[in-house]
Amino acid sequence: SGPLRTHAAGRGKFIGTALATGPLSNETQYRTIAGQEFNQVTAENAMKWESTEPSQGQFTFSGADAIVDFATQNNQQVHGHTLVWHSQTPGWVQGLNATAMRSAMQNHISQVVGRYASNPAVVSWDVVNEVFDDNGNMRTSFWYNTLGSSYIADAFRAARAADSNARLCINDYNVEGINAKSTAMYNLVSSLRQQGVPVDCVGFQGHLAIQYGFPGQVQQNLQRFADLGVQVRITELDVRMQMPRDATKDTTQATYYRNVVNACLAVTACAGITIWGFTDRYSWVGDTFPGEGAALIYNESYQQKPSYTAVHDAL
Ligand code: XIL
Repeated sequence: SGPLRTHAAGRGKFIGTALATGPLSNETQYRTIAGQEFNQVTAENAMKWESTEPSQGQFTFSGADAIVDFATQNNQQVHGHTLVWHSQTPGWVQGLNATAMRSAMQNHISQVVGRYASNPAVVSWDVVNEVFDDNGNMRTSFWYNTLGSSYIADAFRAARAADSNARLCINDYNVEGINAKSTAMYNLVSSLRQQGVPVDCVGFQGHLAIQYGFPGQVQQNLQRFADLGVQVRITELDVRMQMPRDATKDTTQATYYRNVVNACLAVTACAGITIWGFTDRYSWVGDTFPGEGAALIYNESYQQKPSYTAVHDAL
């Protein structure tokens, strides 16, 4: 018994969720569960570039502030997501030449991180997101195509300059287990730190699907990053399935959730686990992966699922 956050805190870990501003503004059950069960939150979309700087130099923080205010009211930490990404970034950024793009990036980071630098709720940032492709090569995004890989170090330095206390993370998907992509991430983080680039943390998104199997050697993978001296964390956990949902799939899903929590618990440098939402009523999965769904720990009517019990009992 007791909410997830109590158990997580007892283990010295955070348990987080991604928050959507729509239901946060008008759905009581959503607010109640979000506030009671979690001790950290991430904005699902509200802090992304398209939300915070839709046109150049015009910053809008209404959604971001709503998340930070909710977190403050509920004694929760905020993980900032995300500063530099190839997706959900306005076209005006993508069309800039190299000099202009670099300074737009530095200004964006300075304004967004700077807004919350003195706010004690906001403790960490995803500085760069998804810089690798699925084979572990640098993703040929507009950032890379215009600036080369130097944008990564520049982004971290700008974030450190804007907030000397925030924990600065690099975040990606399909890097939970040991594979070519996670090894590319490992090599990048190692090299950035050797160059004195302020990378404090590695985020493992954790968008899993039961039909693809559980990734191999998750605990060992987290540990090898920890041994580089960085904090690690699970940042966007969800476990989708092919619909319709059934009891067998629920059981497998619960096992995946439990395995992820146990891997984090087994690694001292793992700070915690954020689930990418909490209710199947509001999840990116159905929109992004046709025919799949039911990836979270509450169903669409806010009933706890076996995956909730698995997380609860593991913590
Ligand atoms: C997703 C959101 O959940 C959706 O609402 C949005 O339409 C697209 O982005 N990796 C990330 C997250 O880092 O920002 C993405 O969030 C999911 C994949």
